[in-house]
Amino acid sequence: MEFKNLLLEISESVAVLTVNRPQSLNALNSELLNELECAFYQLELDPEVKVLVVTGAGEKAFVAGADIKEMATMTPPDAHRFALKGQRVLLALEKMKKPVIAAVNGYALGGGLELALACDFLYASESAKLGFPEVTLGIMPGFGGTQNLARLIGPKRANELIFSGKMIPAQKAEGWGVVNEVFPAQELLAKTLECARAIASQGTIGIGYAKDAIAHGLDMAKEDGFRYEAALFGVLFGTADQKEGMAAFVEKRKANFRSN
Ligand code: CAA
Repeated sequence: MEFKNLLLEISESVAVLTVNRPQSLNALNSELLNELECAFYQLELDPEVKVLVVTGAGEKAFVAGADIKEMATMTPPDAHRFALKGQRVLLALEKMKKPVIAAVNGYALGGGLELALACDFLYASESAKLGFPEVTLGIMPGFGGTQNLARLIGPKRANELIFSGKMIPAQKAEGWGVVNEVFPAQELLAKTLECARAIASQGTIGIGYAKDAIAHGLDMAKEDGFRYEAALFGVLFGTADQKEGMAAFVEKRKANFRSN
């Protein structure tokens, strides 16, 4: 499918999806949300793709939020539908079986930070700034930010960030455990791709199941999570990846995983 607001490049089993509306600092309007939803479904089904990287076009912004110009005239029912749509799209990203890395190359604000938080982990450039400025607009986060941020860093820090509307630098977000690593801007994509390719060379079924166990386990009692983990662990022993991975170890060679 052709996208108007997204760039998609696939090489060496890694897809790089770039939000591309630089004239609006990559703000998420309805059309862009529709395209993101199509892209996530398309990439989930594409056997060429093992890992997804999400980033923003230009040097200034990852994504500066939902499109304020589109939201400015929304009625309460419109805004409710817009939030439900954004949540649906970001949940589709969160639920992808394939690993997803956010390369946060600049402002990640409001819906932009919500997009990044829907990824499995975040790398960021030294110049990136993260925050939820919604209160400065008289609103609140609406694409899952209140839920995902509080679960990730706890309610105290989430309260401070969301109530103040302030932006924090990438280095502080790293200290809070929101960002995994910070790189100089010119190295961010290369470092992200290096990590993505390393992940893509592993057994992808095992990675998908581990992602599933971590995500679902967090919503379960711990012993239920252990049971779920053991069940998935057992299923993996019926896969070609397990046969190949363990045979390669015994034969002292590099594993050549073929499955998706
Ligand atoms: N929506 C629509 N347009 C946006 C935008 C947004 N979220 N963010 C930036 N733009 C547009 C600007 O209007 C401007 O367009 P024009 O040239 O046509 O005026 C262009 O992008 C460049 O932006 P600035 O001139 O403002 O750039 P700056 O360097 O001076 O400031 C900024 C950068 C601090 C990020 C500033 O643009 C800003 O504060 N943007 C809004 C951030 C924001 O409030 N995001 C939250 C949105 S609400 C939300 O996301 C709700 C939710 O949870 C779903």
